[in-house]
Amino acid sequence: MRTWLRCVECGRVVEGFAYRCPSCGGLLEVEYDRLEIRLERGESIWSFSGALPVRERVSLGEGWTPLVRGRSGAWLKYEGSNPTGSFKDRGMAVAVSHALDLRCGEAVCASTGNTAASMAAYCARAGLEARVIVPRGKVAPGKVAQLVAHGASVEEVDGYFDDALDAALAAARGGAYLMNSVNPYRLEGQKTLAYELVVQLGRAPDAVVVPVGNAGNISAIWKGFRELAGLGLVDGTPRMVGVQAAGAAPLVRAMETGRLDPVGEPETVASAIRIGRPVNWPKAVRAVRESGGTILAVSDWEIDRARLELARREGLFVETASAAALAGYRRALEEGILSAEEEAVLVLTGSGLKDPEVRLPGPRPATGRATASRRPPGSGPPGEAPCPPG
Ligand SMILES: Cc1ncc(COP(=O)(O)O)c(C=O)c1O
Ligand SMILES: [Zn+2]
Repeated sequence: MRTWLRCVECGRVVEGFAYRCPSCGGLLEVEYDRLEIRLERGESIWSFSGALPVRERVSLGEGWTPLVRGRSGAWLKYEGSNPTGSFKDRGMAVAVSHALDLRCGEAVCASTGNTAASMAAYCARAGLEARVIVPRGKVAPGKVAQLVAHGASVEEVDGYFDDALDAALAAARGGAYLMNSVNPYRLEGQKTLAYELVVQLGRAPDAVVVPVGNAGNISAIWKGFRELAGLGLVDGTPRMVGVQAAGAAPLVRAMETGRLDPVGEPETVASAIRIGRPVNWPKAVRAVRESGGTILAVSDWEIDRARLELARREGLFVETASAAALAGYRRALEEGILSAEEEAVLVLTGSGLKDPEVRLPGPRPATGRATASRRPPGSGPPGEAPCPPG
């Protein structure tokens, strides 16, 4: 199998490895001369190695997570049962393998917690140095414990994830292998969720609902479905529905305008998706447009309520950001974006054990359905504010 990178903006082909297009700075995507996707059950994502662009195969048994029918009617893809408790393990298995292919000895990432925890574990497995950069005081305690246990070196920066990412990009310029989702190899691991769904359901679902932060996962999952469709392995492809927290929802606007106005001070209880400048926004906009989907913003109250509903009605204790999938699904039903007859899969991205603080939501606030992202950045506290006119 031969692979190369292609710029999603200008189409330039890049042989060798880069994080960005040398011509225009656009995001890159992995392409293959011959993809082989075996649609049958396996032990790890490496059952899809004919569609993964690496020679090494570092594994902790990631992938093949449970798909259970929810009482809500939607299917629940429980990514919390990955080895380190989130979907990041799919991508990290491939990215760490690629770092070994390239003989890099040090990996770096910026993280709201899950990427770092996953990277630390896979680096421990592969014998790489792990250096993680996190926003100070904004990482859930279970994730910090994972970093310490796996022996990663941790730097804290004042500010937000977006500031930590700037620091990680600088470290990557110094030669460390960058494990954030701007790295197209990592997204290749994450696309396997699409393949699994088709095996588990026997077909592609009508819709896939995904919490969105840096927008890598929604882009990766869509790439997986595009590849399946390109090979004629599915009849149709799902609508991709991305869900952001209202206080950190720049993609809602980007879908309308085609450009990103970053949220300068993103705020939400869902710390894993508290991201104001999603690196992968051009890929996510394309995924949503091509698939006929949408991006929704839900309030923190809706997220907290959905998290309790998943725990109390479905028996699944997910992390706060993951509950955005159910909150978004409910909203999509209310707004007629999805119907109850459609087969929807909610991607429950991470385990609640990392993020053990449980908030019991009170009654719905009077203005309980925020689309705070529609306000200009910095124009007031995010959360439950109603949309301004226009
Ligand atoms: C639990 C959880 N859900 C969702 C996301 C969002 O994924 P992405 O940044 O790929 O949009 C993250 C990212 O950190 C996460 O940790
Ligand atoms: Zn380019």
